Amino acid sequence: MSRIPEETIHAIREQTDIVQIISQYLQLRKSGQNYFASCPFHDDKTPSFSVSEKKQIYHCFSCGRGGNVFSFLQEIDGLTFVEAVGKTAEMADIKVDQAVFDQARQSRPKADSTHAKLLSVYEKAEHFYHHILMNTQAGEEAYQYLIDRGMSKESIETFKIGFSPPQRQALKLYLDNEDLNDSAVLKKSGLFSDRDDDTFVDRFSNRILFPIKDKRGQTVAFSGRAFLETENSHRTAKYMNSPETELFNKRRILFNYDKARPAIRREGEVVLFEGFMDVISAWEAGVKNGIATMGTSLTEEQVRVLDKATDHIVLAYDGDSAGMEATKRAADFVSKETHFSIEVASFPENLDPDDFIQTRGQEAFKEFLSHGRDTLVSFLMKYHRRDVNLKNESERLKYIEVVLKELARVTSAVERELYLNQLKDEFDLSLDALKEQLQMFVVEQQNARRKEKRQDKQNQQQEAEPTVVFHHNKPAVTSLIRAEKALLHRLFTQDEVWSVLSASEKDLIFSEQDHQLLYLIYDEYYHSREERSLQDFLDYLPDEKLKSKASEIAWISMSDDIAPGEIEDYLNVICDRQPLENQLKQKQMELKDAQRSGDKSRQQSLSIEIINLIKKMKSK
Ligand code: UTP
Ligand code: MN
Repeated sequence: MSRIPEETIHAIREQTDIVQIISQYLQLRKSGQNYFASCPFHDDKTPSFSVSEKKQIYHCFSCGRGGNVFSFLQEIDGLTFVEAVGKTAEMADIKVDQAVFDQARQSRPKADSTHAKLLSVYEKAEHFYHHILMNTQAGEEAYQYLIDRGMSKESIETFKIGFSPPQRQALKLYLDNEDLNDSAVLKKSGLFSDRDDDTFVDRFSNRILFPIKDKRGQTVAFSGRAFLETENSHRTAKYMNSPETELFNKRRILFNYDKARPAIRREGEVVLFEGFMDVISAWEAGVKNGIATMGTSLTEEQVRVLDKATDHIVLAYDGDSAGMEATKRAADFVSKETHFSIEVASFPENLDPDDFIQTRGQEAFKEFLSHGRDTLVSFLMKYHRRDVNLKNESERLKYIEVVLKELARVTSAVERELYLNQLKDEFDLSLDALKEQLQMFVVEQQNARRKEKRQDKQNQQQEAEPTVVFHHNKPAVTSLIRAEKALLHRLFTQDEVWSVLSASEKDLIFSEQDHQLLYLIYDEYYHSREERSLQDFLDYLPDEKLKSKASEIAWISMSDDIAPGEIEDYLNVICDRQPLENQLKQKQMELKDAQRSGDKSRQQSLSIEIINLIKKMKSK
């Protein structure tokens, strides 16, 4: 348990609104009393994640996760409880005594997992490289290179850019000095060249290093840029990345996402660049919602990360033909399965965004980025007409066909009309003919999609497990489960229920193990506190699973007042069922025995008994 005083936690909870905090991560839409979004904790196609302003809890109807504002931050940012409380205070602008948090944090036993050690190694390495760049003679040339490229000292500091010195033992010596000398961990870190012997030489030597951070802002990798002209510089890659480690997965990481996230939410869009330098220059120009992949195409994992923050992507790739190809690939990928809307900033004259800023200035860049964008369709039109000779009839027809095919995917009627008119004017065609052709492509694509869906369904059916009749572990919501939940709900929210329970002679045994646990823990909680609340109980619960279960139960909507006899009714249902429940367990055990001994006729008679018992329970 934390050592932050109860009153502090209580005060922070009182002053925050879960809706306000969660909406900094997700796009919440209000419907009725609650707010909805796609669940950030699983691959969610429908908005099954909901937030209750009244109860100050969240709950996902699909994956079952739930809790209060603290557990949300714990889960989404991977924080400890103390960290989550601190972050809540920060996000809600609540003044707290920082010393209280520092103390609580220090009292946490220092994690010594490999994971934690790797993180400290990266933290120290970042510090080391940055120091070399900023303060030493070894770093002077690299520093000057960055300044000459137009980077400001402030950005170098903000992004903690560093330089790996030519002395390839230096990093190891520094880490030794910091007591980070576990060779297994150092090997795993990927900071050193792979060698068979036990010498540790810096992998990145002589490169300018860009720290790569995860969404919490912890450094998990580096990308190193070569910048010296040497005899063999044509043979080494311009950028070299850390190898994949336990911390670093290229498919998942987005450069600058940690810093850009608030701006992405604020602006309602994310700008995707190809290179780190583009992101940094754009940042200097005031475009704070820029990110980049690690020199690879956008992946599904990355799209999923972005999906939690926005539904609009601006592709701002290099203006050369490779950049255009990459834009086309990204646009196809993003528009295929998702609801993102896309715009494209195509930079002129083969410039990449960084070149554009350096040659034309920050203001021109901002102007171009906000007013010089193409819609997806007009980008695609530009894309398809490269290398097409429109004077040649067959090439011209092919071009029109391709554009119509792209248009067939556009759902906005107004947008279609706009481009159909453009085609009509440019090629002197009749609007009717164009419309007719477009309609054909629409139907064609619909059929293809339907076929794909059917195929998907078939595959799913083939994978589905055969249903087993005796599988009674997960019953549909029966009256028993309903009664258990309702009773717990009342217990968590109304103090007087406890006295009714204590007065009852009956032994309370729940059919679901989680319910039983919640009941026992609540008992303990009840007797350890003078003041009780649902929110406080959620924090008291030891693990994520129970928190989810408890918030699911709290989510049930019930009248504010307990009806006369209501609690007794629940008790009757729960306790009456006990004998049947026990019989069923007994029979199921016997059935297992019979299966083990291969007694076929006994198996059969037991099966029938079990079916009858289940029927009886269902009819209750
Ligand atoms: P670019 O070649 O466009 O680099 O590659 P850049 O960002 O413009 O860099 P400068 O301006 O020349 O310094 C775009 C991205 O592709 C990856 C890097 O992530 C880079 O930011 N890349 C590029 C590599 O991973 N390896 C390489 O050798 C080159
Ligand atoms: Mn560049």
